[in-house]
This record gives sequence, structure tokens and C-alpha cells, in this order.
Amino acid sequence: MEIKALGCEPLSLRRVFIKDGHTLDVYRKDGGYKSLKKAMTMTQDAIIQEVKDSALRGRGGAGFPTGMKWSFVPRDNPKPKYIVCNADESEPGSFKDRYLMEYDPHALIEGMLIAGFALGSNTGYIYGRGEYRYLLDIMDVAIKEAREAGILGEKVLGNKDFSFDLHTHTGAGAYICGEETALLSSLEGFRGHPRMKPPFPAIEGLYASPTIVNNVETLTSIPQIIEMGGIKWRDLGTEKSGGTKLWSISGHVKKPGVYELPMGYADMEKFIMKDCGGMLRKDKDLKAVIPGGSSVYIMNAGQIIGQNVTLDYEGLVAAGSMLGTGGMMVMDETVDIMESTKNLTEFYKHESCGWCTPCREGTDWLVKIFNRISTGEGRPEDAQLLLDICDNMEGKSFCPLADAAAWPIQSAIRQFPGDFKKWLFDNVSSNGVKPNVQ
Ligand SMILES: Cc1cc2nc3c(=O)[nH]c(=O)nc-3n(C[C@H](O)[C@H](O)[C@H](O)COP(=O)(O)O)c2cc1C
Ligand code: SF4
Repeated sequence: MEIKALGCEPLSLRRVFIKDGHTLDVYRKDGGYKSLKKAMTMTQDAIIQEVKDSALRGRGGAGFPTGMKWSFVPRDNPKPKYIVCNADESEPGSFKDRYLMEYDPHALIEGMLIAGFALGSNTGYIYGRGEYRYLLDIMDVAIKEAREAGILGEKVLGNKDFSFDLHTHTGAGAYICGEETALLSSLEGFRGHPRMKPPFPAIEGLYASPTIVNNVETLTSIPQIIEMGGIKWRDLGTEKSGGTKLWSISGHVKKPGVYELPMGYADMEKFIMKDCGGMLRKDKDLKAVIPGGSSVYIMNAGQIIGQNVTLDYEGLVAAGSMLGTGGMMVMDETVDIMESTKNLTEFYKHESCGWCTPCREGTDWLVKIFNRISTGEGRPEDAQLLLDICDNMEGKSFCPLADAAAWPIQSAIRQFPGDFKKWLFDNVSSNGVKPNVQ
């Protein structure tokens, strides 16, 4: 497992390489909480402007500009305001946030404090999935250290006008609780169902009060931005995709791990084939890559090799996919894409919260058809049937989980028609394996 920065100094990963970097003592010696002190000398508008200037886009998957989101919070609203960190990290293929919380918990606390100061909030919550209990235990230790040092609680660092405290909360491991409004429902103690948007959480979120929900990586970038200045931080990346980004790489590469790259890193082929050590088995070629966590379009090798795909939001859209969370899954030619897509679809069916019909019924039907195909009972028209069901889900459901379930299937059939044809017409996988019929 590699953890390294390429093409830039480690910023988000900086304290992974420092012994005891997770402790308050070492964090402070390494310049920790200086950005908070600096932020507290600035106006709220000036902090939000720095974040806007940084071109930081939310690292939780949707890529919404963070400064713009912060500017939506009505600061004259008399209700309490909340800063919520989305530490659910439930997207298959994504495993970056866990390293930030494990190795650099104080950077997250500092980012949330700065957000709290900028938006007039006194309370923050860190919401993680049930499996991340051990990380929230690490966060609790760091929160206690910060409280005892006067960094959290009443009068932050002696500032009589600013109090801020933080609490951790675990869900029970439901993927949907990573969706920001379902997360807020769960945090309030209700079942984790998504809520109607608008109103967006920035206007009416936790306890119907203005709430900012940001991903772990987004919030840990905030102290860097305040320290360097927004423009300087943006210039580490590109004009539209500022800063650096963490990528979680798994699958058939020799050196899977978490890599920090400047936005706009060139290029995807070099990254996979050289930086990540190339294909795991040297006699097996690259077949497919899901570049941004399971909820984005799958790419075939032809979309990557020789195509100079830059690793940023714009580059991946131009190449036919999306950046998502940066959870890159690499597959060699031994993988049958019908089977890998079936596997993902089973996940989405399991995780559909059941609230709305197109997603609840659609994911169930998709799995039924995939099961039929994989047991050798597939029909020639089944690929079209899968696409029709996806069409009835995409954009027609209550929250984006249904889109996330449809996109892998639509792109798999588009990019790997041969794998589906083999199953539908010859009843064998692309590797010639016969179905295992009981
Ligand atoms: C089904 C689903 C699951 C999600 N899971 C996560 C997650 O685990 N972590 C996360 O940060 N964002 C997740 N998101 C995105 C959040 O809804 C939200 O956009 C994000 O937390 C906002 O933070 P950001 O602006 O910093 O990215 C998910 C979205 C959907 C639709
Ligand atoms: S789209 Fe799926 S996960 Fe989202 S509300 Fe509807 S049933 Fe629930």
C-alpha cells in the first residue's frame, strides 16, 4: 500500500510522513492551528473569498465549489448554524478520508473551526459510518486534546467572540447516509432517508437551520488555503480545478494506495502504468478503469491509452467519465465487465433506501436480469432491457443514488458491448467461462 505525493509537495498527506503527526503537540510544532489564528484576524467575507479564490471543489463526489456553497449560508439568520463533516466515505473504491482522519485529525478540526468562524457557527458534527468507529475514536481523542488546550469550546484560543465545539456521530453503515440530506436525517436520529432539495442544507439543514456539509478532504484543505492564500493554492492545480487531490487506487496495479496529485496531473495513462507500477500481472493488459468511485462511468483502455487524459474535473469529463471521489479502480483483461457491473448493481440494490419506486423497484429488476444473464438464461434483448430500466431511473428518482446505479450499467454496455454479447448470445463470459448453474 503506497501513500505518496507525486508532482507536488505533500499537503493533505503531509502529516502521514511525520511521526506522531496526529497528536496536538506535533501538529502545533508543524504549524498547526496557525491558519485558525490567521483566519480569526480576517473578516468572514475575506475568508469565504479566499476559499472562492482557491477554486476548491468539494471532494465528496459532486465537486460543488466550496466557497460558493459557503456563501449561500444566510449569516443574518438568527437560528444556530452548523458545520457538518461528511466522513461517511461509503463510495466503493474510495478510501482516502480514512487516512486523513487517522494521520491528521487536527487538520480536520482546524478546517471545521475556520468554517465555523467564517459562517458564524458554534457547533460542528463529524458523521462517519459504523465501520469507521475506530476513526471517530481517533477524532474523539484529538477533540479532547483540542478542548483541553482551549482550541475547542468557549472562547476559541482566547477569542471572546468565538466559541465552537465538535461532536462525533456514527451511522450504522448505510451508503445512503453519505448523501448529505440522508446524513442529516440520520444525525437527527431519524431513519436515513434523503430529503427534498431545495431547500438546500445551507439554507435549511440540520434541525431546519443553515448547515454546511463538507467532505473530510474538503475541510482539511481549508487550513492550507488560509495559510497559502486562495490564489496560490489554486495555482497548484488548474484554474478551474484548484489545489491538490487525493486518489485512492485499487485493483490490478502493482502499487495500489493513496496518492496526492496536483489537479490537472498529466496523464492518466502514466499514472496507472508508471506511477502505480503498471499492471499487476505483466502479461495481462489494461481493460477498464472506473476513475472516480463506483458511481461514475466506466472507461475502456482506448479512452485512456495515448489519450493524454488529465486528472482533474474537466479532463475526466472530456474523456467520457467523471472525477467523483477519485476512487480509481483498475481492471485487467481477466475481468468480465458484465460480472463486475452485476457486482456493483447488487451493491446499489442493497443500499437503495427504498423510499422511491424507480430506484427501489429498478435496482431490484436490474439485479434479477443480471442474475438471469449470469446463470446462462440471458436473452438477446436483455442489454436493451437493462438500458430501458436505467432510463426509467436516471433523473427520475428522489436522490442521486438511482443515477449512480444507472451510470455504471449504461457505460458498461456502451464501452464493453462484447462482454454483454458473449453472455447474451453464447451464454459464456468474455473469458469463456460457462455460467455456474446450480
Ligand atoms: C448516495 C450518495 C452517497 C454519498 N456518499 C458520500 C460520502 O460517503 N462522503 C461524502 O463526502 N459525500 C458523499 N456524497 C455526497 C454528499 O451528498 C455531498 O455532496 C458532500 O458531502 C458535500 O461535501 P463536499 O461539497 O465537500 O463534497 C454522497 C452522495 C450520494 C448521492
Ligand atoms: S433514489 Fe433510491 S436511495 Fe434515493 S431516495 Fe429513492 S429509493 Fe432512496
